[in-house]
Amino acid sequence: MRIFSEFAERADSGDTFRAESGPDRIRANLADIGATLLIASAKGGVGKSIITANVGGALARRGRKVAIVDADLNSPSIIGMLGMKQPRGLPLVEGIEPAAGPHGLRVISSDLLASVEPPPVAFVEPENEPLPTSPARPTATKESDALFQMLTQARLGALDFALVDLAPGIEDLYAVARMVRPHGIVMVSHSSAQSVKATQQAVRVARRIEIPVLGLIENMAGFNCDGCRSVRPLMPEGSLAGAASDLELPVIGRLPFDPRLAEASDRGRLFIHEFADSPLAKILVEIATTIERLVPAQRRA
Ligand SMILES: Nc1ncnc2c1ncn2[C@@H]1O[C@H](COP(=O)(O)OP(=O)(O)O)[C@@H](O)[C@H]1O
Ligand SMILES: [Mg+2]
Repeated sequence: MRIFSEFAERADSGDTFRAESGPDRIRANLADIGATLLIASAKGGVGKSIITANVGGALARRGRKVAIVDADLNSPSIIGMLGMKQPRGLPLVEGIEPAAGPHGLRVISSDLLASVEPPPVAFVEPENEPLPTSPARPTATKESDALFQMLTQARLGALDFALVDLAPGIEDLYAVARMVRPHGIVMVSHSSAQSVKATQQAVRVARRIEIPVLGLIENMAGFNCDGCRSVRPLMPEGSLAGAASDLELPVIGRLPFDPRLAEASDRGRLFIHEFADSPLAKILVEIATTIERLVPAQRRA
């Protein structure tokens, strides 16, 4: 686990400053992006990152200019899933340059910054510094400071899409949504009762802060194995579709569990590229086209 060091006494990372002008600075930095979308989930391990990587890849292969921002600072996974090595010479004096991924994807991730001195997004290993004990400045605050720095310093430039792959949980969703004011949120969930309940709560929070939720993606909806003639159930079925209908949200896609997806991602390969003819790859590509269709034309104020 990593913890985030205190930022130096910089005026622009203080809570007061951030509350007053932070979101403006982030929005100015993201102003040339056609659609900034958060890929979120109330629970971890539901497939946000692998879906972000493949849907981002699918959009890029359709000729869109796409960046993925890995906003899971404690457990970044996009760089590994895309098979990227340490970037060549990230100039970090004035800002964070995205690294080049496959199919023209650009990527911002704390993974890329770890070896750079001094890091513009600062974090330390626990063995080098004791865990914070002061309840006055909990780790979560430091993490949102680091996210704030990352989002103000990332040099994303003009893009069609920025996909922000969040850490799990409502707290991060709330913090990043308020900083970025994205065009929309895509929620990923299983259909287990606990995941569905937490997803409903996350949607309510997003609506309270007036960020549109574009729809839900149901992941691990059935098990697709080589020896099976058909997709077999993996979790109790139907409850996510029911919640989506209660919330008046579309289900943007239902992805089966396919061991080859995890295996390809561990090798740093995009599933949509390696297994382009598989039903799962086709669903991931369809999700990309559906997202393009659902993105509202105008940025929400
Ligand atoms: N439909 C699926 N089939 C097979 N493996 C999957 C599927 N969805 C996710 N995984 C695997 O599960 C693990 C967790 O997924 P990940 O995208 O990291 O979740 P999250 O970002 O929500 O924490 C990864 O190893 C991923 O490859
Ligand atoms: Mg993840």
